[in-house]
Amino acid sequence: MLTAPSQLVLRNLERLPAGDLLVVNPPADGLAHELAERGDIVPHLFTQDMADARALQAQRTPVEFAAVPAAGKSYAGALLFHPKEKALADFLLFLARSRLSAGGSLWLVGENKGGIRSTEKRLRDAGIAVDKLDSARHCQLVKVTPKSTGAAFALEDWLEVLEIEVGDTVLAVAALPGVFSAGRLDDGTALLLETFDAPISGRVLDMGCGAGLIGATLKRRNPGIDLEMVDSNAVAVVASEWTLRESGLAGKVHASDGFSAVNGSFDWIVSNPPFHDGIATDYHFTEKFIADARTMLKPGGRLRIVANAHLKYVPHIDRAFGNCRTIAENTRFRVYEAVRR
Ligand SMILES: C[S@@+](CC[C@H](N)C(=O)[O-])C[C@H]1O[C@@H](n2cnc3c(N)ncnc32)[C@H](O)[C@@H]1O
Repeated sequence: MLTAPSQLVLRNLERLPAGDLLVVNPPADGLAHELAERGDIVPHLFTQDMADARALQAQRTPVEFAAVPAAGKSYAGALLFHPKEKALADFLLFLARSRLSAGGSLWLVGENKGGIRSTEKRLRDAGIAVDKLDSARHCQLVKVTPKSTGAAFALEDWLEVLEIEVGDTVLAVAALPGVFSAGRLDDGTALLLETFDAPISGRVLDMGCGAGLIGATLKRRNPGIDLEMVDSNAVAVVASEWTLRESGLAGKVHASDGFSAVNGSFDWIVSNPPFHDGIATDYHFTEKFIADARTMLKPGGRLRIVANAHLKYVPHIDRAFGNCRTIAENTRFRVYEAVRR
């Protein structure tokens, strides 16, 4: 079943340029097969999200998973699925433009509620030609004709390093577009970190590390820990690496979709796990994450996570671990801890 943006692309398939087409952050639906069906399009799928990459690979669709697509190849066109975050939309537009050959065109598709209209306006205000091609199911498809193509693109140009205080711990934290809470300490994460008032030791996993605030804070306060940090977002992995480097800390950082690329067992798994209100499947992620976390802990190992107070995590944790304590709470968040017995 194609998503609404993919359906909009599909009904305008004949308008896309022939040749190599860079498809940026596509949903894991069957659009790639439909693009290839036209015969004269060679789609190259690129995603920053490892969960989408794995879902596409499971459909036997080749996909490049990275923070930015490999340099050295240029494309006749780029089809960009508009993200919700404005800074990420700009980042991806510049990125896609950098990979276009001379005369190449950029196609932007997305839901109205995801902010595509305000991106169109920003582009027009900057004097860039934007042609509205089609709209349906609360989505827009537009063609953007950049003033120039092939300009150099460096991730470093989008990086900001900001000093952030976590209690009495001061860190240099990397902010990059699309990475959670870019440049600030999330209130839930702050509550979670407040609970670490005693030293910890052993192997520690920061699951869904974002810009690396949890792992970096724990490592700064407990230099002896063996720290590992993972995130499914390739840009978050880069941000966490930068945060460790800029803060003068050591740790292993890599991409993982949940625990898919994590090995061995841990003394601690610490997380502010992803959750989006209103999307039923996200409880599935939480349930699986909690059950998997138990299997990744050593006997006596601990899972400590923060969640929005209205989310019903206790039954899931209790079911997987047979125990669950609420160790901190405020009006908005709760911190839960469970021990693998
Ligand atoms: C609420 S944010 C927390 C970020 C960071 N730990 C902090 O506290 O600031 C959740 C993080 O989980 C990541 N994430 C989402 N789905 C994931 C998955 N399937 N596997 C691993 N990480 C995931 C997101 O990219 C995001 O960085």
